[in-house]
Amino acid sequence: METWDAIRTRRKLDEYAPGQIEEEKLTRILEAGRRAPSSRNQQRWHFVLVRDRDQLRRLSRVWRGAAHIADAPAAIGVVAPHSDDPRESASINFDLGQAVMSMMIAAADLGIGTRHAAVEDYDLAAEILDLPEGLRLTWMFGLGFPGDRPLSPVQNPDRRDFDDVVHEERW
Ligand SMILES: Cc1cc2nc3c(=O)[nH]c(=O)nc-3n(C[C@H](O)[C@H](O)[C@H](O)COP(=O)(O)O)c2cc1C
Repeated sequence: METWDAIRTRRKLDEYAPGQIEEEKLTRILEAGRRAPSSRNQQRWHFVLVRDRDQLRRLSRVWRGAAHIADAPAAIGVVAPHSDDPRESASINFDLGQAVMSMMIAAADLGIGTRHAAVEDYDLAAEILDLPEGLRLTWMFGLGFPGDRPLSPVQNPDRRDFDDVVHEERW
């Protein structure tokens, strides 16, 4: 798939189709995350691949918006250090966002849909994933083949107008 098509194809999956994702596809998606750029190349991330149904069900309880993870064939949990320093926290989150987007576009390129899930109960997430002290499940996303409609470039995305978003030279 052309990069431009993969960018336009990525969207939130409304429904996951049953069926496992091939190992080599998951590896490629994770590799896309590993290759993501980060501030001073610090790579303050770990990616936890989860496929066990019980484990997915447990993870779906860390936030009400994460309920969909229970139905996903797989999920990738993004684990990173927690910082109380606002500047460092913003830097970590910026890096994580780039890694997640790279993985999502790599998934779209392979015909695999994704859907984010935030985390509210960090303690529960840490217990489920057996995380070392100081690390936190920051975000996760489910992966699966689309159960709603085929993946194809979204023609009219639900987005603000181009001219409202884009400024030239100055505001
Ligand atoms: C930081 C972040 C957190 C999100 N958290 C959730 C979530 O907890 N549950 C969910 O179903 N979707 C979640 N989403 C998905 C957004 O709602 C979705 O990306 C947005 O509505 C745009 O739709 P699209 O992904 O189809 O383009 C999250 C997205 C981002 C970027």
